[in-house]
Amino acid sequence: MLESALIKLDFPLFSSHPDLVYLDSAATSQKPQVVLNALLDFYTHSNANVHRGIYELSEVASGLYEQARARVARFLGATSAQEIVFTSGTTAALNLVAYSYGSQVLHEGDEILVADFEHHSSLLPWQRVAAQTGAVLRMVTSDDNGQIALDVWKNSITAATKVVVVAHASNVLGTITDIRSLADLVHRVGAVLVVDGAQAAPHLAVDVHTLDCDFYAMSAHKMLGPMGVGALYTKSALLEKMVPYQVGGGMIEEVTATTATFATGPAKFEAGTPPVAEAIAWVAALDYLEAVGLEAIRQHEVALSEFLLAELQTIKGLRILGPKQASQRTGLVSVAVEGVHAHDLADYLSREQIAVRAGFHCAMPLHHNQHCGATLRASYYLYNDKQDLVRFIDQLHKAINYYG
Ligand code: ALA
Repeated sequence: MLESALIKLDFPLFSSHPDLVYLDSAATSQKPQVVLNALLDFYTHSNANVHRGIYELSEVASGLYEQARARVARFLGATSAQEIVFTSGTTAALNLVAYSYGSQVLHEGDEILVADFEHHSSLLPWQRVAAQTGAVLRMVTSDDNGQIALDVWKNSITAATKVVVVAHASNVLGTITDIRSLADLVHRVGAVLVVDGAQAAPHLAVDVHTLDCDFYAMSAHKMLGPMGVGALYTKSALLEKMVPYQVGGGMIEEVTATTATFATGPAKFEAGTPPVAEAIAWVAALDYLEAVGLEAIRQHEVALSEFLLAELQTIKGLRILGPKQASQRTGLVSVAVEGVHAHDLADYLSREQIAVRAGFHCAMPLHHNQHCGATLRASYYLYNDKQDLVRFIDQLHKAINYYG
């Protein structure tokens, strides 16, 4: 396992909250000092707008911003930095795909398939596109274990399928989708695969080339980086076909009073001032993650999940959503306790300095299909250790006794 006690020292928030057990990294991760330094550094030494000034400072800022794009491309295994559009996060990236690609190519009768464990950010944009284009939105339902077998996908994909939308890892179940096998099925009918990577990219080594997905969205803030920046990977050939989601400054070639032509490549999708400092500081987060090692982080989380799943299974009246095998999950577990509302449990835990998330986690259809109400989610990362989970389990027992 990782030396989490040492890793925690790199994260100043844990020094200012020494008693905190932070188990909400799926909502947002904490930030290491190197990321905070990178933000301060940019604003102290290099702050200027990008791709607008001829003066040196603006050229420095532009250079750093483009280096960040190349770094994100390398992290994801993309062929070129030109395949990376910076967005404000995963939600913006997924909306961009739905509008810029979906609303352009879909027609009446075409099918969009979405997994039932999609986050609302990965579902709602397609509901809107379906309503606008007359395409049919169909939900593929997960089994009692929270998984969708490849055969189920195979039977759901038809000649009418044009877009398939799936989370690489579910933010409620932690289940990991076999993207490569799904991509093969999707491409066989000439459709595209849109992947919500928000909960996977922080925890698994991602290589979009190997996965062969057409779009991959992620957020910096869930992977040690700043809030307000994320990225959309798109295969170059598709990027060229897409129309801008927003129009404005910084994305044009030529503008007259009544017409405009647009820049090519990612710039076409980055109207307005982008999150420059955030993108640059994201590089420090990616460097940090790769220095620790994505494989080591994965092993660490699997070991924590093994421990937590075993402990939770001893609690009477507690239901674990998703698979019981740690290796089939990322670092999170959601539970429902018979007769006790998840908000009450979270409130009790909060009074004991334990931060977890309770509710529907922006995935209402999944909770409905899994026949359960609000759930309590503990999500962990490289800075969490077994001791954090021991405190969580201990206080969860007390909370259940208190309310039960
Ligand atoms: N999507 C984030 C979560 O699942 C906010 O908590």
